[in-house]
Amino acid sequence: MLGLVFLTIFVSLNPSPTSPSSSSCTVTSIEDLAEATKNCKDISIGSLTVPAGKTLDLTSLQAGTTVTFTGVVSFGYKEWTGPLVDVGGTNIKIVGASGSVLDGDGARWWDTKGGNGGKKKPKFFAAHGLKSSTITGITLKNTPVQAFSISGVSDLTVSGITVDNKDGDVDELGHNTDAFDVGSSDNVVITGATVYNQDDCLAVNSGRNIRFADCFCSGGHGVSIGSVGGRSDNEVNGVTVENTSIVDSDNGIRIKTISGATGSVKNVKYSGITLKNIKKNGIIIQQDYQNGKPTGTPTDGVPITDLTISDVKGTVDSSATEIYILCAKGACSNWSWSRVDISGGESSLKCQNVPDGVAC
Ligand SMILES: *[C@@H]1O[C@H](CO)[C@@H](O)[C@H](O)[C@H]1NC(C)=O
Ligand SMILES: *[C@@H]1O[C@H](CO)[C@@H](O)[C@H](O)[C@H]1NC(C)=O
Repeated sequence: MLGLVFLTIFVSLNPSPTSPSSSSCTVTSIEDLAEATKNCKDISIGSLTVPAGKTLDLTSLQAGTTVTFTGVVSFGYKEWTGPLVDVGGTNIKIVGASGSVLDGDGARWWDTKGGNGGKKKPKFFAAHGLKSSTITGITLKNTPVQAFSISGVSDLTVSGITVDNKDGDVDELGHNTDAFDVGSSDNVVITGATVYNQDDCLAVNSGRNIRFADCFCSGGHGVSIGSVGGRSDNEVNGVTVENTSIVDSDNGIRIKTISGATGSVKNVKYSGITLKNIKKNGIIIQQDYQNGKPTGTPTDGVPITDLTISDVKGTVDSSATEIYILCAKGACSNWSWSRVDISGGESSLKCQNVPDGVAC
């Protein structure tokens, strides 16, 4: 009993959590964050509200820092481009503890227009320039527009993420709520993600050695490469999508290259894909993409080569197209498809320049 009293006194005399001498710090107010990132390598972020128009800034972390979210993080309302959370550094571990959530309360911005107009909406979670890092167990709820932007990173593993934008389905208010946008990155692994959203589950615009495995995608536009073209980096080389279910979505597998643009898409492999309740296309590969409205005329500036699609099974809605391939002449080659079994919908009559061994 006496021991317990002494222990209590000892603990309460300990320095304040964010004092410079401390290496382990708890942040419960945004004001404490800058000092914590300067002084601490083990940062715990509890429940707090990030003021409107401010970023939860984790870009100045010391190498080797672990940041653990333990509570509910909310964000004030402002029409701006964000991001709401920004993470950077080397050997960084970002962890979402069980029950923690970053809640965008996106309904305050949703107006059916996404990034195409209406209210200016903040992007949510930027992971830019990370090296040799991990992001684990984070839950994003109701993102105003895109969820994770992964750009300029090398050797990043993103596991056990939940993006829950189900509320955005009401009256189709949520739009352009891509779960993972990946660009200009090397060696990114995304595993075990659970996504409910209204746009691409994955969209790789550029990069190398990207793996997306053991994921569940619902409500969106499919697991996508692209759109490719029209940016500063337009090379996609090495994307593997494995063991992933895509349900209640516009498309299953999708590769879209921009009309008139240049670049390349190569070494792409989809395998072990299950489709269910697909509304538009089971597999869609198009070289005529333009935001909002494909042109219908494929162009050859972004060739799609060395594409393997195997063990894809499932169903699409009766009004949906099972497989749609629109390639420019000579711009799709060395494709290898096997055990592709998609049923329930219509066959496309509009396929063009389909490579040998592949059927629409
Ligand atoms: C496939 O993915 C699911 C999650 O969607 C996971 O539970 C399962 O273990 C994975 N299977 C393999 C063989 O990796
Ligand atoms: C065809 O693609 C495969 C990978 O799918 C690759 O290993 C092979 O080198 C490619 N062949 C040519 C001729 O480019």
